[in-house]
Amino acid sequence: MLHNAAKSSDLDPEDWDDFRSVAHDALGGMIDFIETVRERPVWQQAPAATLAQFREPLPRTGQDFRDVLADFESFIKPYATGNLHPLFLGWVHGAGTPVGMVAEMLAAGLNANCGGRNHVAIAVEQQIVRWAAEMLGFPENSSGIFVTGTSAANLSAVVIARNFAVGDEIRQKGLRAAGPQLVAYTSAEAHGSIRQAIEVAGIGSQFLRMIPVDECGAMRVDLLAKEIAADRADGLQPFLVAGTAGSVNAGALDDLSALADRCQAEDLWFHVDGAFGALCALSPRLKPLVRGIERASSVAFDFHKWGQVPYDAGFLLLRDADAHRRTYYNPTSYLHRMPSGLGAGEVWPCDLGFDLSRSFRALKTWFTLRVFGTEAIAACIERSCDLAKYLEIKLQRTPTFVLCAPVMLNIVCFAPARPDSDELARRIVIDLQERGVAAPSSTILGGRTVIRAAIVNHRTTEADIDAFCDALEESARRVTSSK
Ligand SMILES: Cc1ncc(COP(=O)(O)O)c(C=O)c1O
Repeated sequence: MLHNAAKSSDLDPEDWDDFRSVAHDALGGMIDFIETVRERPVWQQAPAATLAQFREPLPRTGQDFRDVLADFESFIKPYATGNLHPLFLGWVHGAGTPVGMVAEMLAAGLNANCGGRNHVAIAVEQQIVRWAAEMLGFPENSSGIFVTGTSAANLSAVVIARNFAVGDEIRQKGLRAAGPQLVAYTSAEAHGSIRQAIEVAGIGSQFLRMIPVDECGAMRVDLLAKEIAADRADGLQPFLVAGTAGSVNAGALDDLSALADRCQAEDLWFHVDGAFGALCALSPRLKPLVRGIERASSVAFDFHKWGQVPYDAGFLLLRDADAHRRTYYNPTSYLHRMPSGLGAGEVWPCDLGFDLSRSFRALKTWFTLRVFGTEAIAACIERSCDLAKYLEIKLQRTPTFVLCAPVMLNIVCFAPARPDSDELARRIVIDLQERGVAAPSSTILGGRTVIRAAIVNHRTTEADIDAFCDALEESARRVTSSK
């Protein structure tokens, strides 16, 4: 018995040595799990009996830690998302690293609350802010904050840009007193979180112009200029352009320099959703693809995707530190600042967002960047793009599939070369996932359902892509023969 509530009123182990041994085993088991990831299915559906475990009532009395760990081994570990596996190719999922896992455990051990106060975790986060600015070519005095993910960072950027456009009075008087209707612009291929942000920020999604894209999936800047002019002529107030560095569907990149020029000419806030693509800035070879990002007013991106930091580690970087703080600073008696001691410090993270209690996300990012260095991370990003090209070439050589979008970065979209391809594409994706051999996802491009392989995992190799192509052919045979 590691903890005996009858004997002890605190929640620490009764026998620290026994706890140490169980904890070391748990960590060792997780390291083994990651080391042997290729030996298991990419993903498997949890059986009904397993899912029934999660309908047990609220536990009133404690159980032995060993027993709960055994349940974790049986009912949770085998049925996780699967994104540790090199053939998890769905959506845009980072793989994490064993180093990041240990860092996360250390952060949980410290249990730091990173909303503010004068402690070293805040200094670590501030160092990441400076590193993020350096990575993306922002000024040294830029502002930044960890958030859950790019969706949250996009929302925060929209709110800051909105307040910047209409003035700080909006905080007291609300949007209805703010003057002309605000309008925002993004591409038709933008991530859904941009629309959601515009809705949540009270702008209304009918005032988000989804500008058509060119054949490479990039926003048509000529059409953007026309829309802005038409909205101004109608008495509306354009305030924000959200560019995309790496679209979720196909990895397309807007011409960020051209968008920066347009925003400068129109005096608009230039936000970049660089969820994964922003980190191309780490690679001398790929950096030209995101040229112009260094001129953005704000950039949302994730360390948990191509940065390989374990979930979650979203980030928002802002050029105008003052605009950032003016949006959120919320003085209260219980959070007032002291000249020294724990209550010291000028800007706390809680002044830069609506979270007060926050975990120590910076630590796993700090470990990841220090242990691997940006060159190794950039090499993984480059390899993802090379593997996407390799997959593209292999698909061009098979009569079974046709490519459905140009491969700009790390995402390959393709479909069965048959008239009933929508239904077949869906069935192939499900077959691959349910056989546990690979986990691509599907999406809709130009009205057509396509199979989508996004290579984000640092473990994926050419041999994996070969295996994926074999598995694709096999699934295509299986679903067509079972029709
Ligand atoms: C381009 C883009 N923007 C935003 C997001 C949302 O990021 P998150 O899942 O971290 O909220 C994604 C997710 O894949 C994305 O690809």
